[in-house]
Amino acid sequence: MVARRVPRWSELAPLIRPRRLPGDAVDRRLAKAADVRDIRAIARRQVPRAVFDYTDGAAGEELSLARSSEAFRRVEFRPSVLRDVSAVDLSTTILGKPSALPLVFAPTGFTRLMNSEGEPAVARVAERVGIPHALSTMGTTSMEALAAAAPQVRRWFQLYLWRDRESSAAMVQRAREAGYEALVLTVATPVAGARLRDARNGFSIPPALTLRTAANAALHPRWWFDLLTTEPLEFASLSSWGGTIAELVDKVFEPAATIADVRRLRADWPGSLVVKGIQTVEDAREVVDAGADAVVVSNHGGRQLDRAPTPLEVLPSVVAAVGDRAEVYLDGGILDGADVVAAVAFGARACLVGRAYLYGLMAGGERGVQRVADLLTAEMRRTLQLLGVTSIAEVTADRVRLRPTP
Ligand SMILES: Cc1cc2nc3c(=O)[nH]c(=O)nc-3n(C[C@H](O)[C@H](O)[C@H](O)COP(=O)(O)O)c2cc1C
Repeated sequence: MVARRVPRWSELAPLIRPRRLPGDAVDRRLAKAADVRDIRAIARRQVPRAVFDYTDGAAGEELSLARSSEAFRRVEFRPSVLRDVSAVDLSTTILGKPSALPLVFAPTGFTRLMNSEGEPAVARVAERVGIPHALSTMGTTSMEALAAAAPQVRRWFQLYLWRDRESSAAMVQRAREAGYEALVLTVATPVAGARLRDARNGFSIPPALTLRTAANAALHPRWWFDLLTTEPLEFASLSSWGGTIAELVDKVFEPAATIADVRRLRADWPGSLVVKGIQTVEDAREVVDAGADAVVVSNHGGRQLDRAPTPLEVLPSVVAAVGDRAEVYLDGGILDGADVVAAVAFGARACLVGRAYLYGLMAGGERGVQRVADLLTAEMRRTLQLLGVTSIAEVTADRVRLRPTP
């Protein structure tokens, strides 16, 4: 039997500490998030459902996306102990230039839909953190405006091969003039993936206030106020459009694109060429033979072919096939700094993230993106320390294995 007594006020008082975080409501909301999944939960409350679903969703039954995330859960690290990990260096090189982290902000279309601060906010965070930012062909900020908003960021431009080759060539020329260092050619989009959430939500571009969406819109007056009181939401590189994303993709994108287009682009573009959307070893070889400097092992975040290969599982064989001639990156389902460390251990030079920073953008504009970058950085640092290594170069294949599927 434990002897009990009545606690004294002098003992209780120091324990009662109302947690007052500094800043406004947005700062407090973001500060309370312990990881990117918490940021996602905040994001969900900030924007209309159709907008959240467009960002969060994937194609078909969303199996590709679920498998990409699940693969990261099967990672098992092999740590060393009793190493001095008091100082950790997370920097690396990407396309031969220094990067503060093995991380790139992936190209995402329609970014100003998530929050009116849009691509400039994302690029400014990339600039501050010291990582590359890729602007999408479907971006809502022009290449030139983005360059002005974040003059020091490493600027990449993502290109789709269009039916209209002249417009495509004109964009490449503009990217060159606006000082973009790399073109990211996305090749996993001959046609639009089946985005069922968008179809069910009646999601269109620009967002339409229909009877169906009005009730949900009423729950997010702040988002609508921002949308209606800032620059009209338009694709910066495409002429005005009113229709579904799938209709747009099918109208603009070139289903007849082939490897010859990659060779042509290589001949026309003097900067670095990254080919994004590689899912097999054969395709990796073919695009590197055609002159790609880097490939992204990616199924477009599960937004195109459902039941596509899982990037983390394909990665080691792609690295073995082309890693001596090209850099290999990976994306899809990354929500934690430990995921990035795992991908690096499996041979990736860097990872791209899309949804992670978009959740931040929806949750709190530029501050939300910064919070996501800070969380990912802290997670990477802690993972290296707990692995007993002090630099990205030491994150080698012997540090990880994939546990078999249960
Ligand atoms: C809302 C959204 C829009 C996207 N738009 C583009 C795009 O315009 N061009 C492109 O190459 N990839 C696009 N992607 C794919 C990303 O570049 C990246 O491959 C993917 O988001 C990685 O998966 P993650 O979101 O799980 O990190 C988009 C992804 C999302 C979530």
